Amino acid sequence: MQKGKQLYEGKAKIIYATEDPDLIIQYFKDDATAFNAAKKGTISEKGVMNNKISTKIFEFLASQGIPTHFEKNLNDREMLVKKVEIVPVEVIIRNKAAGSLCRLLGLKEGTALASTVLEFCYKRDDLGDPLINESHVLALKMATEAEVEAIRKYTLKINELLTRFFANLGLELIDFKLEFGRYKGKIILADEISPDTCRLWEIGTGKKLDKDRFRHDLGQIEEAYQEVLSRVNK
Ligand code: TMP
Ligand code: ASP
Repeated sequence: MQKGKQLYEGKAKIIYATEDPDLIIQYFKDDATAFNAAKKGTISEKGVMNNKISTKIFEFLASQGIPTHFEKNLNDREMLVKKVEIVPVEVIIRNKAAGSLCRLLGLKEGTALASTVLEFCYKRDDLGDPLINESHVLALKMATEAEVEAIRKYTLKINELLTRFFANLGLELIDFKLEFGRYKGKIILADEISPDTCRLWEIGTGKKLDKDRFRHDLGQIEEAYQEVLSRVNK
């Protein structure tokens, strides 16, 4: 697949056109940011590891009937994906309290939640991706009611699937973020699923194997991503 011109550069990925107008190339960078890019750095080989981890997860979700943008892996840092119109909403699932939920509600990290929390954030870096609810999504026409329903349904199903997927690898899925897009009139899963976008704690030890190691300078950052990759590859 011939790589065309650069269409977009985000914080962790670059998007390139291809000769097929329906397909784009997603290139994974080593750059890492946190707290709305207040903290910046690089994680050596992160792009390679996240590309491989995301590939495995998209293949697994597709095998379980979830429509995704993933087409195929191209090389160490690139995957071919469907070109979608991104819904400007970050969808977050929380199985246990961590991160911004602890700050929002004054909870201790790791607090159990009586039921799954599903959040929407408006994808707007200039506003710091604010927490919103479904009425904002509809009022600002970020998505239609039918699209929100599809997004909720897929997100909850993905949580069930990935919670089990990671548990089988000895990892607890604490929370994660998804992005969806429109492709030929349908909602499909887009973006990436990796230790950048999930919190994963080792079952038994509680060791953090995700981007929190970078966010909070916990050390052994590359090793954590490598550990997730080797488990996902098993
Ligand atoms: P939070 O606790 O910081 O709101 O993060 C919740 C989950 O979403 C966590 O697994 C990390 C992921 N996430 C992203 O993928 N991108 C982001 O910009 C943010 C803020 C969180
Ligand atoms: N990726 C986000 C940022 O740069 C936040 C995060 O993942 O913590 O700001």
